[in-house]
Amino acid sequence: MIIALCIIGVLSSARLTLQASAPASPYYVGATVEYYGVMTGENLTAIANENAKNFIKILKTASENDVDIIVFPETGLTGDQKYPPEEREKYIPHSSFIPHPKEGKVPCHDQSTPVMECLKAISCAANRFKMYIAVNIREKEKCTGERCSKDGINLYNTNVVFDRSGAVVARYRKYNLFGESSLNRTAKPEMTTFKTDFDVTFGLIICFDMLFETPTLRIIREQKVRDILFSSHWFSELPFLTSSAIQTAWSWSNDVNLLASGYDNPATGSGGSGIYAGKSGVLKRVWPEKRTNALIIAQVPKVIDGNRGSITPGSIVIPPNSAVPTINGSEPVPEMKLISDYLLPYTTKMFVPVNGTSNVTLCDHGLCCQFIADTAHNVELIKEPNVRYYRYRFAVFNGVRSFSGKGTGGIEVCGLISCTGETVESCSVRFDTNGILVHPTTFNSLSISGDFKTLPNNLYLPITQNDEITPLNVTDFSFAMKIINKTHTNLKFNLIKPRSDLMTFTIYGRNFSADGQPQTMGSGAERVYFFSMMLIILVLIGMSSETLFLGSV
Ligand SMILES: *[C@@H]1O[C@H](CO)[C@@H](O)[C@H](O)[C@H]1NC(C)=O
Ligand SMILES: *[C@@H]1O[C@H](CO)[C@@H](O)[C@H](O)[C@H]1NC(C)=O
Ligand SMILES: *[C@@H]1O[C@H](CO)[C@@H](O)[C@H](O)[C@H]1NC(C)=O
Ligand SMILES: *[C@@H]1O[C@H](CO)[C@@H](O)[C@H](O)[C@H]1NC(C)=O
Ligand SMILES: *[C@@H]1O[C@H](CO)[C@@H](O)[C@H](O)[C@H]1NC(C)=O
Ligand SMILES: *[C@@H]1O[C@H](CO)[C@@H](O)[C@H](O)[C@H]1NC(C)=O
Ligand SMILES: *[C@@H]1O[C@H](CO)[C@@H](O)[C@H](O)[C@H]1NC(C)=O
Ligand SMILES: *[C@@H]1O[C@H](CO)[C@@H](O)[C@H](O)[C@H]1NC(C)=O
Repeated sequence: MIIALCIIGVLSSARLTLQASAPASPYYVGATVEYYGVMTGENLTAIANENAKNFIKILKTASENDVDIIVFPETGLTGDQKYPPEEREKYIPHSSFIPHPKEGKVPCHDQSTPVMECLKAISCAANRFKMYIAVNIREKEKCTGERCSKDGINLYNTNVVFDRSGAVVARYRKYNLFGESSLNRTAKPEMTTFKTDFDVTFGLIICFDMLFETPTLRIIREQKVRDILFSSHWFSELPFLTSSAIQTAWSWSNDVNLLASGYDNPATGSGGSGIYAGKSGVLKRVWPEKRTNALIIAQVPKVIDGNRGSITPGSIVIPPNSAVPTINGSEPVPEMKLISDYLLPYTTKMFVPVNGTSNVTLCDHGLCCQFIADTAHNVELIKEPNVRYYRYRFAVFNGVRSFSGKGTGGIEVCGLISCTGETVESCSVRFDTNGILVHPTTFNSLSISGDFKTLPNNLYLPITQNDEITPLNVTDFSFAMKIINKTHTNLKFNLIKPRSDLMTFTIYGRNFSADGQPQTMGSGAERVYFFSMMLIILVLIGMSSETLFLGSV
C-alpha cells in the first residue's frame, strides 16, 4: 500500500512513468549496464563523481522503461586502478564507508555516516526513481583486533544495493579477489542476499567469484536463490572464458536468472553484459568489440516453486553509445583485445575434416572423451592463397590451471576448439575482426561425451560460441548427465543444429577440490611457458597503465 502511494506520488510530482512490478507479477523488469568509465580527473573521488552523474542519466532512462532493479559494473564508479596496489594508503581517501544494511540508513539524507558523495547521489537517485540499484565501490571500514590492518582500516571491493527509498539493503564484499593486493577479503565468505518488494530474493557476486564454489554456488545451492546480480570487470580469454560464453553457460548450468554488468574497456579485453534466464537462455546480451555504453533491459521471468515463467518479448538495448558522454568519437577506438589461455598442457588432436563421420577418443590424466563429428568439408573454399578460416582441434584436460597468475583452479575439459593455424597456441587467439573469414567446415552434428569422476559440488559449463563470440541458443545443443556407477557420471554434450561458424563447443568443468594446487604443466612446455609468462607479465604491467599497454603491443 505504501509502495503504491509512493509511486502515485512520483507519477504526479515528477512525471515519471515508473510502474513497479507487483509481488504477484510473473516477471520483473531487470536492467544491467555496460559502461566505459570516465578515466581522467583530479583524483579518484572526482572521477567517481563524474561517473555517478553518468549513472544518473542512465537511471533516468531506466526509470522511463519501468526498470525495477539495475546493476552497474565492478569499478564502474572509480574506474581502473589509478595507483599501484602497494600504495594502498592513496586509495583510502577515495574509498567510502558504507552503513551496515541493518541500520536501514538512507545516505541521501542521512549525514551520520560519512558516505562518499557519489554514493549519496546514487542513494538519492534510487529514491527519486524508486528503483533498486546495485553499484560497486572501494569500501573502507574502521577495524580493531586480529583481522585489522595496522592503520586501523580495511579496504574491500564491495557491491552496495539501495532499495526504492534509497536505503542500503545489502552490502557484499568480494571474496575471490583477482590479485587486488591493496584490498582485504573477509575472514569468511559473505553470502549476501536481499528480498525485494516484488517478491524476488537476489544474491550478489562480483567478477572472479563466478568461477568459484564459495560463496557463489552456495548462495544458489544452500540458500535456494534463483536471481543473481553480477558486477564484473572481466578479462575475456580464448578459447573458453569470454564474458559472453561464461555468463551464458553459468546461468544455464545453474538455471538461475543472471543480471550481468560488465565494465567496458576493449583495450584490455573487458566488457560483455547481459540478462540471462537459465535454461530458457539469453534474454539480451551485449558483446562490445568497440567501446560501448549500453543499458540492457529485459522482462525477467520469476522462478516460482522451481518453475520459471515463460519468456515475454520486449527485451531491449538502449541507447547505443549516445547515452553518456564517455565515448569520445575522436579518440582512437581499440578493438576487443582478448587474453589467451595456456593450452600446452592439454592433450589435443588436430581434426582433419571429412565429408562424413569422425570418431576420436582422447584421454588426459585419466579423463577420456569421445568426439563424434558429422561434417561436410568444402575444400573449394580454401583453395585460394591467404584465405582465412578456422581449423579445429579436439582438446581434453584434467588438471590445474592458472588464472592469469592470480590463483589456480582445478578444471576438467572436453571440447572442440578452433585455431588460426596448425599449432596448439593458435587455438587461443582469433583472426582480427576486420577481415573476411570463410567457413569450409560445417558440423552437421557433434557429440562430446566422457565419464567424469563424480564430485559432490562440481560445476559443468556447456561453453559455446561462434566466431563472432556469440553463444549458441539453447535450442542448438543438448547437455545431459547420467550417473553410471558409484564413482562416475557420464556427460554428453551434443550440437543438434548444423553450424559452419563454430568457435568453441566444450564441456568446461570446475574441480574445486584442486583449487590452489600448483598449475599442471605440459611436458616439454617450459620454454614456451616462460615466453607466455613474459607476455602475461607485459600485459599485467600494461594493465596498470593503459598507455603503456597500448604502446607495448
Ligand atoms: C579530489 O579533487 C577535488 C578537486 O577536483 C578536490 O576538491 C578534493 O579535495 C580531492 N579529494 C581528495 C580526497 O583528495
Ligand atoms: C589488508 O590488506 C592490506 C594490504 O594488502 C594488508 O597490509 C593487511 O594486512 C590486510 N589486513 C588483513 C586483516 O588481512
Ligand atoms: C575527445 O578526444 C579528443 C582527442 O583526444 C580531444 O581533443 C577532445 O577534447 C575530447 N573531447 C571530449 C568531449 O572529451
Ligand atoms: C566433400 O564433398 C564436396 C562436394 O561433393 C567436395 O567438393 C569436397 O572436395 C569433399 N571434401 C572432402 C574433404 O573430400
Ligand atoms: C566410435 O568408436 C568406438 C570405439 O572405437 C566405438 O565403440 C563406437 O561404436 C564408435 N561410434 C561410432 C558412432 O562410430
Ligand atoms: C539465436 O536465435 C536468434 C533468434 O532466432 C537468432 O537471431 C540468432 O542468430 C541465434 N544465435 C545463434 C548464435 O545462432
Ligand atoms: C565406473 O565407471 C567408470 C567409467 O566408465 C569405470 O572406469 C569404473 O571402473 C566403474 N566403476 C565401477 C565400480 O564399476
Ligand atoms: C580433482 O582434484 C582432486 C585434487 O587434486 C583430485 O584428487 C581429483 O582426481 C580431481 N578430480 C578429478 C575428477 O579428476
